[in-house]
Amino acid sequence: MDEQNNGEIFSTDLAGIIVGETEISNVDGVSGSLSYRGVNIADLVNRPVMEVVGLLLFGADGASPEVQSDARLLRDASSSERLCDYEEELTAFTIDHRRLSAEELQLLRDLPFDLHPMLVLQGMIPFLNIPYREQAEGSILADEVVQQGLGIAAKIPSIIAARHRLINGNSIIPSGDSLSLHENFLLMFHGRVPSREQVRILDAVQILQMEHSFNAGTFAGRVCASTLAPIQSSISASVGTLFGVLHGGADQAALEMAKKIGSPDKAAAYVADCLERKIKIMGMGHREYKVVDPRAKILKPMALSLCEQGQGKELLEVLVSVEAACQTAFAKQGKEIWANVEFYKGAVFHSLGIESNFFTSLFAMARVYGYVAHYLEFSQNSRLIRPRAKYVGR
Ligand code: ACO
Repeated sequence: MDEQNNGEIFSTDLAGIIVGETEISNVDGVSGSLSYRGVNIADLVNRPVMEVVGLLLFGADGASPEVQSDARLLRDASSSERLCDYEEELTAFTIDHRRLSAEELQLLRDLPFDLHPMLVLQGMIPFLNIPYREQAEGSILADEVVQQGLGIAAKIPSIIAARHRLINGNSIIPSGDSLSLHENFLLMFHGRVPSREQVRILDAVQILQMEHSFNAGTFAGRVCASTLAPIQSSISASVGTLFGVLHGGADQAALEMAKKIGSPDKAAAYVADCLERKIKIMGMGHREYKVVDPRAKILKPMALSLCEQGQGKELLEVLVSVEAACQTAFAKQGKEIWANVEFYKGAVFHSLGIESNFFTSLFAMARVYGYVAHYLEFSQNSRLIRPRAKYVGR
């Protein structure tokens, strides 16, 4: 950032510039904490997924008065009290809307098979047909935009799984009528029923990456929403922005970096070479966090307990060595650069049998709930986002 002579603010990257208010999540980059609607993510990670979605989108207003008035309960992960009362309604809506139509499946078949899953996802979102259905009075689903947003979120797992089946020459598995969000996704993706443990792991990872304040993808969606474009356009813009390797695409890039390095003893030389040539280490560093990303703090032990043998163990050992080499090198440079959410996430996904080119689309599958929450919040008090350029031409 730079201050011009005439007092105008000049910033090419908006670093440190506050561009709006939000009640959805809070990123504290100094202490290294993240909370959704005031609840620390460490306390949300083992809650039912749809309960967290309800909290994120609509707050704790539906929870019993005791829960709302007792901050301790909201923070206590072991509490049997619900964080909000929307879980059942959201689950039923998702099950009802997640099946792809024949036309949507045909579109997926027609797209070139070498197209990256994130490009497929970004392109497919505006084409999805989400019928509006009247809801009982007082329902949180009464609003058409809410239905569109949640309808898109419901179909994203089906799109990802169907593309995975198609490009591998497998038959598409239709969505189940009663399975939970991630049990159904893993079944559609792999073609076999997942274990409870696999579902629990995916639930936790997806909760961790559902929302993160004004990140680049969410901000792109807000810019789009500010023109009064529909929610489909806004989510599509966000997904396109998430794809880049400086943002969500770092999950694929970090695990592929570990594969390329090959063994832990080569990690230090790899890091030194990257720093020498000013190449970024994928999964390291964050615009907001000046300490370890709180999501990485949860994902690392998860990866260590899951990757105990085979290729997963080898990849994880490389990642651990890269992290150690980075810490030594960055400390020497006096830089506060630590592992972010992407660094160990790939190892966890790898343990679930998910190929690296699908990592970022799974990220989008979770983050879409944050995008919807921001679209709804922003639309309540919307104003066109339109910065200025400094003209330097002739
Ligand atoms: N590897 C090596 N050097 C790094 C890294 C890294 N991962 N991250 C920052 N640096 C260095 C830069 O080279 C620069 O050094 P210099 O001042 O000597 O030129 C300095 O730290 C500042 O770097 P910026 O990129 O300006 O810092 P910023 O805060 O904007 O960066 C970013 C944040 C873009 C995430 C960066 O750390 C990065 O590129 N990381 C790798 C990609 C990545 O993991 N992205 C995922 C982020 S999490 C998410 O979006 C979900």
